[in-house]
Amino acid sequence: MDYTLLNNGVKVPMLGLGTYRIGKTDNDVYNAIRTALDVGYRHIDTATLYANEAPIGKAIRESGIPREDIFVTTKLWGDDMVKNEIQQAFDRSMQLLDIGYIDLYLVHWPVKGKLVSTWHEMEKIYASEKAKAIGLSNHLQHHLEEILQEANVLPTVNQVEMHPYVVLDDLVDFCKENAIVCEAWSPLGSNKVPLLEEKILKDIGEKYGKLPAQVVLRWNIERGVIAIPKSSNKERQTANLDIFDFQLTKEDVQLINSLDKNYRTGIHPDEIEF
Ligand code: A2P
Repeated sequence: MDYTLLNNGVKVPMLGLGTYRIGKTDNDVYNAIRTALDVGYRHIDTATLYANEAPIGKAIRESGIPREDIFVTTKLWGDDMVKNEIQQAFDRSMQLLDIGYIDLYLVHWPVKGKLVSTWHEMEKIYASEKAKAIGLSNHLQHHLEEILQEANVLPTVNQVEMHPYVVLDDLVDFCKENAIVCEAWSPLGSNKVPLLEEKILKDIGEKYGKLPAQVVLRWNIERGVIAIPKSSNKERQTANLDIFDFQLTKEDVQLINSLDKNYRTGIHPDEIEF
């Protein structure tokens, strides 16, 4: 496993497990997380929206793995920002997860007119030391600029939809210039697009004895982007972790970048309404 350091010194595994719709029941979620921890995941990404914090927390507590060895992210939902109930929302996530502290707390989506006031509430949460790092998700450059002008604590992370169909080089560069680490959600393009069927990815994978999914995840890591693919399946969870024993060439990277069509499977961050 490779790691990166956030701008406040916190260490994060470059590959984590996404958990949006990872199971229909709490039991399914619990089992998916126990399996992931068993096969080696040490970074789990959830959110208030996913309504699965309780079984994830239970799986972490019962895994027998020391708490400090697992990096856990959760996120603040927009409705709680609209209601100005940010501290309450954080306390609820803390209670549901019940794992002592949260490693990374993110603003899930930018809410118009609330960017800066929300960030100041996030800074209070960080000061309480109940979250070891705070950051953003689904924020574009103009959202980041607005927050950075007023921030007392720098965001550590910006987690956005990112894969070879939506490469977002400019956003990655802007984040790097501002010491913000990018994270990719749906790094495999989700099951809404046939990204993993692309011949370019199959051909590159064949050279290294790797699957298209492993090529895409490796591409993320090599550009300094943390990836959090979701899988509830033990074999795919294992395959997605097995990306630290090969390296892409410049030509491979250029070919993968050529798949870019600036196409998101999810909503555009300027279009979400709460
Ligand atoms: P599954 O859970 O059956 O493995 P997301 O976009 O939320 O990260 O979801 C990723 C999607 O890709 C899920 O539907 C997941 O299904 C699937 N998936 C995860 N890993 C792989 C892989 N290595 N190869 C093919 N599909 C994958």
